[in-house]
Order: sequence, then structure tokens, then C-alpha cells
Amino acid sequence: MQKKELPGEMYRPSAEVIGRARVKDWNAMVAEAEGDNQKFWAKEAEELHWFRKWDTVLDDSGKPFFKWFTGATTNIVYNCLDRHIENARRNKLAFLWEGENGDFRSYSYFALRREVCKFANVLKSLGVQKGDRVTIYMGRVPELPIAMLACARIGAIHSVVYGGFTVEALAERIDDSASRLVITCDGAYQRGKVVPLKDIADEALQRAATVESMVVVKRTGHDVKMEAGRDMWYHELMALPIAGNDCPAEVVDAEHPLFLLYTSGTTGKPKAILHTHGGYMVGTYTTLKYVFDIHEEDRYWCAADPGWITGHSYIVYGPLLNGTTSFLYEGAPNYPYPNRWWQMIEKYGINILYTAPTAIRGLMRFGDAWPNRHDLSSLRILGSVGEPINPEAWKWYHTVIGKERCPIMDTWWQTETGMFMITPMPCVPLKPGSGTRPFPGIIMDVVNEEGQSVGPNEEGYLVIRNPWPSMMRTLYNDPDRYIKQYWSQFPGSYMTGDSAKRDEDGYYWVIGRVDDVIKVSGYRLGTAEIESALVSHPMVAEAAAIGLPHEVKGNAIHAYVILRAGNSPGDHLTDELRSHVAHELGPIAKPEKITVVDSLPKTRSGKIMRRVLKARALGKDPGNLSTLEE
Ligand code: WT7
Repeated sequence: MQKKELPGEMYRPSAEVIGRARVKDWNAMVAEAEGDNQKFWAKEAEELHWFRKWDTVLDDSGKPFFKWFTGATTNIVYNCLDRHIENARRNKLAFLWEGENGDFRSYSYFALRREVCKFANVLKSLGVQKGDRVTIYMGRVPELPIAMLACARIGAIHSVVYGGFTVEALAERIDDSASRLVITCDGAYQRGKVVPLKDIADEALQRAATVESMVVVKRTGHDVKMEAGRDMWYHELMALPIAGNDCPAEVVDAEHPLFLLYTSGTTGKPKAILHTHGGYMVGTYTTLKYVFDIHEEDRYWCAADPGWITGHSYIVYGPLLNGTTSFLYEGAPNYPYPNRWWQMIEKYGINILYTAPTAIRGLMRFGDAWPNRHDLSSLRILGSVGEPINPEAWKWYHTVIGKERCPIMDTWWQTETGMFMITPMPCVPLKPGSGTRPFPGIIMDVVNEEGQSVGPNEEGYLVIRNPWPSMMRTLYNDPDRYIKQYWSQFPGSYMTGDSAKRDEDGYYWVIGRVDDVIKVSGYRLGTAEIESALVSHPMVAEAAAIGLPHEVKGNAIHAYVILRAGNSPGDHLTDELRSHVAHELGPIAKPEKITVVDSLPKTRSGKIMRRVLKARALGKDPGNLSTLEE
């Protein structure tokens, strides 16, 4: 039993949880990692395979462009697959996959390596070389991780675009990365319908010029147009003699780029976060192992989408590096009924479930009867990520799903950090809504405008004081923005973009973004992207987007638009604008509400003051208005 302690809300791990845990003494581990940080990470790195060992663990001579494990050569995919095949996990299941329509597939480590090698050979035959960028735009099917791993195996750089994004977002990301190849599906099943991924990709390719070929995985059988000379079927390529069963992993430098992942920032177009083979590998391997306390017999399920960093680090790389068995599910959590997830947990005997507060709140709405119909006793550890978890959702997750037996790992991190940064481990006493303390060896702080630490329970900017192996290396093609965005507000420290408090026990309470990023259902969207999608409509002259609290999504987008002369407001028009945003960016970006206005609050320099709009919408005091233009 997780014992609740009064007063205050502290949940202490049971003797059973501690008994199993790899780490039993958190403070000792923190002391060790802080004592000799490089030694701590080197010890973890020793557990992995390197073609050549490093000369230096951390090279900070060019900071903030830090390098890790310099001089070493490796390949993350060798570590994800070949290492296990050599070491007795050859026939262990790597992935179990269930389609929304009930289809089932499984891959042993041996089978997964074979498929990855075959597709790596296909990529080579299409002219993909080390360092080339490949855009992957797919549904949640096993071919998605296979495509990612095949790219990395030959040293190409994957750029996965989430399948919920659409034309504009996809075109921009293909163009910015100058990808030569796009890998997609004929469609994806979502809530019983087909999302026409190939059609969206076709439309995006008209706006992006660099692409030479497109590989299409047949998933739905839904009719698509194949352009001769450009488009090829995955299954036909995989049946060719060039798709041989073996393709040795390319020996790459530890700092060789592994992937780009676009994420929304404060201004302008999305930023391409760059991660590399060596450090990212050590960071994701270590954090998953300790935080979710991975044991050999575990069945682990991270219910995120592989197209987000959560999927990259904790569906694909982290679990495979640990040689664990992961479950992957294609579709919607409540399809055909709200017990779908609970049914699959029972059916496959899932031990670890990692999801987001928005999903928990969404399923909680349907009531306790749905999960209560299922035997969830296989669950041992639960996880949460993406936004702060509210106490009601935490308690429901803890009691109804975890039956008060399973500790909840509330993991705070970002696309940029690559790995968990503030997180408990099973042995750590929990407080609902707090991610507890930084992972051992990570030094974080909460500071004021001047960069000085604030006192207990005072709100401030959340910063990171020291480098860590899986930190982003730069913004692809934009190193100046990397410095400006992350390292200039508080010189020497990494600015997370979040505000937080730290209590008297040193526990962190993340409050939310302090920049113009809105978290909708845990997905990160920039106000700039939504506004630019709105003004791309012929009837809109100017637009402003803000996030307002929403019961399930956490935040929902509300937009204000100024129309071009000659257009008059009405429900029809705002509905059309909402659909336009959904078509350009994807359904997640669809504004909840659009209000037509005559003017927008701006600073004298012309910047939209979104906080004024937000305060007005919430009926709150807008604060200092001295910069507001009359
Ligand atoms: C932002 C990063 C990291 C995987 C998913 C999101 C928010 C993330 C938590 C949490 C409170 C959280 C922060 C952060 N966030 N996890 N456990 N508690 N807030 O990655 O899209 O890069 O977003 O998500 O605001 O800055 P991302």
C-alpha cells in the first residue's frame, strides 16, 4: 500500500515497491551524481556498446555548444538491437502492436533488426546517405519505429512529423530540413476513420521542393494516387533483392546527428531541435532504467505518439536500449468504447503505463465502471508527462487505475532536454502535482528576473545550471537562435521557458509556460503558428491567439481576428476559420473559439499583448499597461 501521510499530502512508497526498486536510496544517488558528475554518466555509458571509447566525457570548451563522449564512436541502433541479439535477448519481444481495428503484430529483437536492416538497405538504394535528412509522416504503426531506426542505422537524420499535423506544418518542416525523402502511409486509423496521410503529404510536397521520392506504407488499403517516378510502395521495396537481411550499423561519431524534431517556440517558425547519437543514448537509457525501474520481464507501455519527443525517447530509443518489451497501440483511447486501454492492459499484462494528464482526464470523464470491469493488477508503476497534473486526475489515476499500489512518476522534461529532468523514482515519496526533484546529477533552480534564486514557494523562472548528456546540441541551421533562445536570458544557465516554485522540501511545482507557447492536450503549439495560419486566410487581416483553461485539454486555443475590409462577422465565418486552421496545421490546433474584433492590444513597438487578451477573457486584472499603445 502507498501510505498517505497527514498532514500535507505525502505518499510514501510501500515496502513492496522499495523492495523491487533498483534505486533504494535516492539521496545517496543524488550525492554520488553531484559529487563526480562525469564519473556518474561515464559509469552508465560503460553499460552500452562503443566501437571506440571516449577521450573526454564532457567537453565544455565551446559552451553553450556542449559535447559529450568526444572521441568515441558508436551507433544508437547497434545498441538498441545488435547488442541484445548478441546478449541473449535475441528471441525476446521488442514490440507488441495492436491496431485500432484489432490487428496484431509482434517483433522479437531478432525480427526487428531484420526489418530495420532491410529497410536500411532500401534507403541506401534510394540514395540516402549519412547526414541526409528524411521526413517521416506516419500513423502509429510498427513501420514508424522501423523507419526511424533504419535512418539512424545508416547515419541519416530522421525528422518525424506528428501524424496529427497537416499540410502547412508538414510542408514547412520538410522544407526547413531539406529532406530528400518522405516516408508516409496510405492512411491512419483514428476513431474508426481514415486520416488521409498520403493525400496530405501530396499537398505538402507541392509547397516543398527538395523531395525526390516518397515511400508509402500500405496500412488502410484506402485509395491513393501514386506519382510515377516519385512514389513507391514500402512492401514492394522490401520484397526486392536489394532489401537484404543484413546491413551493418554505420560507425558514427558520438556527436553525429541522430534526429531533428520540430517544436514550437516563442516567435516565428518552429525550431528544429537537434539530438546526437552518443549523449542522447546514455541519457534516455539511464533515465528510463531508473525512473520506470525496468526489469527483464516487464511489459512497458508509453501511450504517447512516436512523433513527439516522448515517443522518440521513451517508445523507441529508451525502451530498446534497455532491451525491454514495449506495447504500441495505433488508435484512440476510447474506441470503440472507453474501456479500450484498460482492456489492453489486462489482455497484454502491462506492468508500466506512461501517459499524459489530458488522456487521464479524458478517460476519467467516462467514470470508474469502465476501468473497474478489468483486471489491472499487472500494473506496477504509472507515469505522467506533458503538463502539470491536477490533483483530481492524480488521485483518480492513483486509486482507480493504480489501486493505490502504483507510484506515479510525474516526469518534467522537454523536447530540448531529450530525457527526464525533474522526476521521482519509485523509492521517492510523492506529492500529487509535483515532479519531486531533479534527476540525480541535474542541477536546477528557480530564479527571478536577475537570475537570483528565489525563496521557498516563490514563483520564478525554471532554469538548468549544468549540462547533461541528452541535451539538445543546437537548433539545426540556426545556432544563433539556440544561444539567444536558451542561454542569453540567464548567462550560464539554460532557460526552460517554464515558471515554477520550489517548496521547503526542495520539491518542484511547475506552473506553466512563460512564453507564447500554448500546451493543448499536452501538445506544444506556438501562438505564432496559429496566428500565421489564420492570416493565411483571405478574409483575415490580423490575428492573436491565447490559451485559456480547459477541463480536459488543460488549455484550449482562443483566437481574436481583425477582418479585412468588406467581410462581416458571423458564425459561418468563424466556423470556416476554425476549419481552415485545422486544415493547415492539424485538428489539435483548431481554435475552440474565434472572436472578431476591431482592434488588438499592442505595445508601441507593435507586439500583440496576449496577456491583456487573456486577463480580459478571464476577467482578471491585466497588470502593468504602461507599454500599451493608445
Ligand atoms: C513543456 C515541454 C517532454 C515530453 C512532452 C512535452 C511542459 C512537460 C511536464 C510535467 C508540468 C510539464 C512544460 C515543458 N511539461 N512535462 N510533468 N509537469 N509541465 O515536451 O512538447 O517539448 O513540451 O511541457 O511546460 O516546458 P514538449
